[in-house]
Amino acid sequence: MPTATDISAASAAAACVVETHRRLVDVLAPGRTLAEIDAFIARTLAELDAPSCFLGYKVRGHPPYPSHACLSVNEVIVHGTHDMSAKPLEEGDIISIDIGVRHRGWIGDAAWTYAIRRATPLGASMMRAGRESLRRGIAAMQPGRPLTDWARAVQQCVEREHGFHLVRGLGGHGYGKSLHTAPYIANTMPGFPGEWPDARTLFKPGMLLAVEPMLAATTTEIESLGSAWPIYTADRSLSVHYEADVLIEESGPLNLTAGLFDLPDVVG
Ligand code: MF3
Ligand code: CO
Repeated sequence: MPTATDISAASAAAACVVETHRRLVDVLAPGRTLAEIDAFIARTLAELDAPSCFLGYKVRGHPPYPSHACLSVNEVIVHGTHDMSAKPLEEGDIISIDIGVRHRGWIGDAAWTYAIRRATPLGASMMRAGRESLRRGIAAMQPGRPLTDWARAVQQCVEREHGFHLVRGLGGHGYGKSLHTAPYIANTMPGFPGEWPDARTLFKPGMLLAVEPMLAATTTEIESLGSAWPIYTADRSLSVHYEADVLIEESGPLNLTAGLFDLPDVVG
């Protein structure tokens, strides 16, 4: 069980992530390159005393993660890197930015999606669906209820109501003093017993959870190329990603990154 001091440090780490997103809103614009955006994030994190916990992160089969933040444009779902493309952002692009930090010994890890200067009709409706699924999923994270309550709420919103897809095989996670801890938090209901071993785990007070719907326009499948980091939609359709840090309290979920909901969808 985290102590009051732990919770205040975790809240402060989450606040560093939100503040970095806030500052990004004034920087994102047509013409910006991913390298410039990552460099801006690096400077901001240094100023906030909240270094990236993604930079150098090791996952088997991949080189150490090369960027401060994940910058995922259009058909990239997650884990886009600053060096994957030299092409500047263009009007109508969608970029999902995932920022993970360590601050006072605790992790903050949250993502938001922005349209550059204008949103295409598809981009706008996917951003609406993604934000709404995050809001409704979090409301379902009630102590004593199983993790499937989250997945049911998110899936209902994205797939039944909005007609988009949640990509399979990627999900949220516990976090704390390290970026990834149990449980794994799928965004869709298991299709067969054993597909999601943590499905019956209950939300309980003191849990810190990073929950993250990843939507694709027309597929549930993901694809990556060799050992490269970015994960694409298999059919290269548009993708959005929203991630929040949630503390489960006796009284219900507390979104430590709720400030992200105040950010504009369209920037630059
Ligand atoms: N938010 C993502 C996650 O929780 C970001 C990880 S990027 C990595 O898995 F570089 F750290 F892998
Ligand atoms: Co995460």
